[in-house]
Amino acid sequence: MLKIENLNQYYKQSHTLRDINLECKKGRCTCIMGRNGVGKTTLSKVIMGLLGTQSGKIIFKGKDITKLPPSDRASIAIGYVPQGREIFSSLTVKENIQIGILGNRNKIKKAPQIIYKLFPVLKEMQNRKGGDLSGGQQQQLAIARALCLEPEFLILDEPGEGIQPNIVRQIGDVIDYLTKEKQITVLLIEQKLPFARRHGDDFYILDRGSVTANGEIKDLSDEIIKQYLSV
Ligand SMILES: Nc1ncnc2c1ncn2[C@@H]1O[C@H](COP(=O)(O)OP(=O)(O)OP(=O)(O)O)[C@@H](O)[C@H]1O
Ligand SMILES: [Mg+2]
Repeated sequence: MLKIENLNQYYKQSHTLRDINLECKKGRCTCIMGRNGVGKTTLSKVIMGLLGTQSGKIIFKGKDITKLPPSDRASIAIGYVPQGREIFSSLTVKENIQIGILGNRNKIKKAPQIIYKLFPVLKEMQNRKGGDLSGGQQQQLAIARALCLEPEFLILDEPGEGIQPNIVRQIGDVIDYLTKEKQITVLLIEQKLPFARRHGDDFYILDRGSVTANGEIKDLSDEIIKQYLSV
């Protein structure tokens, strides 16, 4: 579904991503793991085209999208839920969702009903301002907005960060539903090992901008965890 080949990225002099090779397979949840500041968010921004790259390729469904502007990535069905959510706080829930619909490549007029099935709270709160929602509800709104694109590929950057446990569990159920029932491919950036173990299929561990280990989550050994993840 998505392949990254020999990718390098620099912030000015600082070499942030080093020779990244990675593959996300269709209908699977691939977890990008690693400690703070190792380059996880940078990698997601590069995939979204929000940051340029100095070398390497990003291939989506066999097409080279390395140079495709971010606005065109929604039209090729890549959804993105950034770290910290970035919903519009002064707009209502409904308006935030309408913005998601605007990016839909199939030109749908109404929100896909599935978002209210997955997140019933958003229906109840549709007239509330985004900024008046709890952190967890904002995260649900950000995911719902991304799902309005009807993505085939969805990037979630630490969706459970700073959120109450019951909502984190619901988000986990949504990830399972998307991958297992809908065959949507998910790239999950995640630092919490139990969540990655529960919902992930494959993993890549980043350390100082390089992939230091990868494989199927079921083979993630205690040794690797001790070395590269803070638990
Ligand atoms: N806009 C920027 N300009 C310069 N350096 C940056 C910029 N954004 C991030 N960095 C640096 O790049 C490195 C990787 O940052 P990044 O945000 O990708 O890490 P991360 O793995 O997502 O961390 P976290 O787990 O805290 O979210 C860090 O050293 C960070 O300070
Ligand atoms: Mg980050």
